[in-house]
Amino acid sequence: MIVPGVTSQVLAAALADATGRDMAAVDRTRFPDGELLVEIESTPGDAAIVVASTTSSEAHMDLLLLQDALREAGVSDLTTVVPYLGYARQDTAFEAGQPVSVRPVARAIGAGTDRVITVNPHEDEVIEHFEVPATAVDAIGRLVDALPSDLTDPLFLAPDGAARGLAATLRESYGRGTSDHLEKTRHSERRVEVAPTDADGADRDVVLVDDIISTGSTMVEAVRSLRDRTPERILATCVHPLLVEDAYGRLSRAGVDGVYGTDTIEHPVSAVSVAPTIADALDR
Ligand code: R5P
Repeated sequence: MIVPGVTSQVLAAALADATGRDMAAVDRTRFPDGELLVEIESTPGDAAIVVASTTSSEAHMDLLLLQDALREAGVSDLTTVVPYLGYARQDTAFEAGQPVSVRPVARAIGAGTDRVITVNPHEDEVIEHFEVPATAVDAIGRLVDALPSDLTDPLFLAPDGAARGLAATLRESYGRGTSDHLEKTRHSERRVEVAPTDADGADRDVVLVDDIISTGSTMVEAVRSLRDRTPERILATCVHPLLVEDAYGRLSRAGVDGVYGTDTIEHPVSAVSVAPTIADALDR
């Protein structure tokens, strides 16, 4: 049985379809003080799979309560799929006095389950913080289904060295073009600088590729760095389309011709599902 977290209804349904499992009905109510109560209205049996992106503290709490409700209902084999693992970018204490935020998050999720599957965490190493077996799957190649099939001499371009593997994988899935990366320096949450490399996007379609688009600052600066190179079209792709605040508008104003993400986060640009990738991981 697939049990959907509040943030992952669409992906949970796609996964239920892809694996031939039933989807549980979950009722959510609030106590007068605002605390959440979840009730799983279906009989789960011995095994269950919770699917819940932790895009907020509330979503994280929803996930923990679902896990506990399933244990209470007698589930002895519990898999937790966290399509987007929140706090994963805080994988280091960047300054004195700060936590490694992903560590307590992973410990809490791991305590309620037998195994964890997550999708393109910011760094694969974060899964070591789960104290149960954990797998990170790579879904970037799924984006090929969203891209126009007629891209002109496509250049798959990562905004920084850390994402160059993603650009190379998407290029390989597309089957044509080349991949390269820019150089990014982050000065603060919202201020980044992207310096061009020798990658020549002139008269080509450029596909920018990253794991996450959050404020859009990285993609906007990547587009600016391409300005003098007169690309045909510029498309922005990512696994996790967080697109907070006015990020979509910023990308549009910067001249991006299309934004594509996956359903690890439910957003109008979530053009492809990672359900087949997760279904494969469940079968392994
Ligand atoms: C960070 O290194 C990630 O790979 C992304 O580049 C980053 O999270 C994007 O954030 P933003 O859209 O706020 O620039």
